[in-house]
Amino acid sequence: MLPMLWLLLSLAVPVLGFYTPVSCPQGHKCQLALLSGNDVLLECPVHGAQWKYYFSVIKKSQAFNPSKAPNIEVTLRGHLSITRPLPSQTGNYYCWEKNSTQVTQYEIDFQDVNSLHITHMGLDQMPLQNESLRAGGQEIMFTLWEPWQDCNRCGAPGERKRLGYCYVIEPLEDPIPCGLYLGESLAWLPRQKPEVQFEACFVECNDMSFALVSFVIFDSFSFNEEQESLWLSCPLASIYRPVSWEADNISLTWQNQLSGKHFNSTLDISTGGKQLQIFQPATYRCFVEQEFVAQFNPMESLELMEPLMRENKSEAPARKLHSVPLMLKLLLLIGTALSLGLLLFNTLCPLSGKSRSLLLVK
Ligand SMILES: *[C@@H]1O[C@H](CO)[C@@H](O)[C@H](O)[C@H]1NC(C)=O
Ligand SMILES: *[C@@H]1O[C@H](CO)[C@@H](O)[C@H](O)[C@H]1NC(C)=O
Ligand SMILES: *[C@@H]1O[C@H](CO)[C@@H](O)[C@H](O)[C@H]1NC(C)=O
Ligand SMILES: *[C@@H]1O[C@H](CO)[C@@H](O)[C@H](O)[C@H]1NC(C)=O
Ligand SMILES: *[C@@H]1O[C@H](CO)[C@@H](O)[C@H](O)[C@H]1NC(C)=O
Repeated sequence: MLPMLWLLLSLAVPVLGFYTPVSCPQGHKCQLALLSGNDVLLECPVHGAQWKYYFSVIKKSQAFNPSKAPNIEVTLRGHLSITRPLPSQTGNYYCWEKNSTQVTQYEIDFQDVNSLHITHMGLDQMPLQNESLRAGGQEIMFTLWEPWQDCNRCGAPGERKRLGYCYVIEPLEDPIPCGLYLGESLAWLPRQKPEVQFEACFVECNDMSFALVSFVIFDSFSFNEEQESLWLSCPLASIYRPVSWEADNISLTWQNQLSGKHFNSTLDISTGGKQLQIFQPATYRCFVEQEFVAQFNPMESLELMEPLMRENKSEAPARKLHSVPLMLKLLLLIGTALSLGLLLFNTLCPLSGKSRSLLLVK
């Protein structure tokens, strides 16, 4: 059983990276804004698709060519996966069937996640104001908000967030994402920022939340002399879905972090809290869409070795082996009667199904 399990696990780990699916009907042109740095999957409605893309900033049309954009890949099913898109990859993405004239076109503005304007209702922070694009002009730059995401916890105090994208509107026209509106004019305006807003929430758990107990335990992080901090990454998490973390059963909230109260950990805003930077050993747990997804335990045996290491730094490089925080050991899968395959299927499918409604075609 064990070798089999390890084989399955080594196959399963890459799958745990989550690409938020985005769809657009065949023959349509869909214009939308997304955030840079967060993986997305552009779906092509036909099988065996061909893809071409055109980055409006670089002004260079190119047929699909992996060497030119190493973070863009056509999947086996003919979708286009974009890993950590760059703001400069704002532009047009086309997919079509070999001899079909029905072309699906995405026009995507990857807004710069590093310029996110962050506000929390509980801290009375103000979102960005509307602004005229030019003095005396009629174009308004404003934030178009997505719906609030679900509360990130149930049966306990949680928080929810919503993303807002920079758009420009002219009288009698539909709003256009800032990056597409401004296109090749490279001047960056101070108002040209995406936003994220948080607020506290509380929801009861519906019974279904407990029906499926499936999570993973990573027994694999340890601090060493060279590292002040480590990064943990919550599988299946994304900025486009609700994520929350606990350290020794205590919730790590955005409210505390934004008011400077977390010293032992930092939620990474550019991934919406998928990544957590930690400075202390503790038991960390993460939840995605209110479901417990993973637990990270410190490596006990190595902690015992810690005083020894401090005495002789020259051995430290050998311990680099342990510094890869995750991916190494996927020790335990809970869910006694279920096979691993079924577990993964159950974990992945209901979640990806739910997320589909997050991003609507505009
Ligand atoms: C596409 O072209 C192939 C041959 O080139 C042909 O057999 C097939 O029927 C065509 N499909 C459509 C949908 O036109
Ligand atoms: C900002 O502009 C948008 C689009 O014109 C409009 O819907 C919204 O009400 C404006 N907000 C404020 C506070 O004026
Ligand atoms: C956290 O909670 C679980 C179950 O609710 C309990 O078994 C565990 O001991 C708690 N851990 C800490 C550090 O309080
Ligand atoms: C950080 O960790 C230390 C030791 O575990 C704890 O005493 C302290 O309260 C923590 N600080 C915060 C702000 O959580
Ligand atoms: C540290 O370890 C190296 C080799 O592992 C050894 O040669 C050296 O004497 C040790 N230094 C101390 C202070 O123990």
